[in-house]
Amino acid sequence: MRPQLTDLEFKLLRDLIYEESGIFLNETKAYLIENRFAALMEQSCCSSYTELYHKARTSKPSGHLCTLMVDAITTNETFWFRDQYPYKVLGEKILPQYEHEIAQGRRRRIDIWSAACSTGQEPYSTAITVLDFYSTVQKDAACHNWVHILATDISPTSLARADEGIYDSVSIKRGLGQKHLERYFQQESNCWKIDDRVKKMVSFRPNNLKLPVVVPQRFDVVFLRNVMIYFSESLKCELLARIERSMAPNGYLFLGTGETISGYSTLFEMVEFQKAIYYRKKGP
Ligand SMILES: C[S@@+](CC[C@H](N)C(=O)[O-])C[C@H]1O[C@@H](n2cnc3c(N)ncnc32)[C@H](O)[C@@H]1O
Repeated sequence: MRPQLTDLEFKLLRDLIYEESGIFLNETKAYLIENRFAALMEQSCCSSYTELYHKARTSKPSGHLCTLMVDAITTNETFWFRDQYPYKVLGEKILPQYEHEIAQGRRRRIDIWSAACSTGQEPYSTAITVLDFYSTVQKDAACHNWVHILATDISPTSLARADEGIYDSVSIKRGLGQKHLERYFQQESNCWKIDDRVKKMVSFRPNNLKLPVVVPQRFDVVFLRNVMIYFSESLKCELLARIERSMAPNGYLFLGTGETISGYSTLFEMVEFQKAIYYRKKGP
């Protein structure tokens, strides 16, 4: 029988998860700890949540059990071309602007960051949008030379699935049109494998958004979608300030549909395109 989670155990585990990932669980989310840690309790031979907590605090290699706990607690819901408008804005506004700058010799690269990429649908939808755009100017075979998409997440399980680029018959249908399916995927028995043209544009890496960004490049476009909702108010402010510092001048930021910078940051200005809202880094 599964052990009962006491109030004290909930608080200890909630604080540990927050410390490790910035994910804040209020009392209504106690069931998440009970449901999602069940397998971990068994694997790590713990008979109580207190034991799990102490093992996590002292686990070796450094923090391994904590990593597994954070992995288990993350919600990785995602789908292809989620909300559509970011990809429309990218394909119809941002990429044409950047291509113009490239043609004029004012730009050499386009750096895009999918900052909570889950199982890969977001960065691959972005890469597909890039390939679609560049196929209209007959540069799709070469554009991976100057378009680079970094895709990061805290969840090792999601990242491994993203990097594999193979999707089952349920996840492939969520948001992906027939044209894109035929053009950018190969069927392998009941699954679909992402084409190399898409894959070679995307690099996957682990990254914890609670910690300072350690990436050399400055991003022209950042997708920070459907992840801030899990963070505390103070972390949202900190994170937006750090994201802004990691962006190129006038870089663009996409948040999830229900998310806003309002009340958390004054470093961006709102941009509207066909009723869709996104953000641009303010000038100096
Ligand atoms: C709901 S999914 C959103 C995926 C995608 N951005 C989208 O909008 O479809 C949230 C993702 O945020 C990741 N995440 C949560 N906390 C994180 C953190 N501290 N650092 C990096 N990624 C985190 C989770 O692992 C999960 O894959």
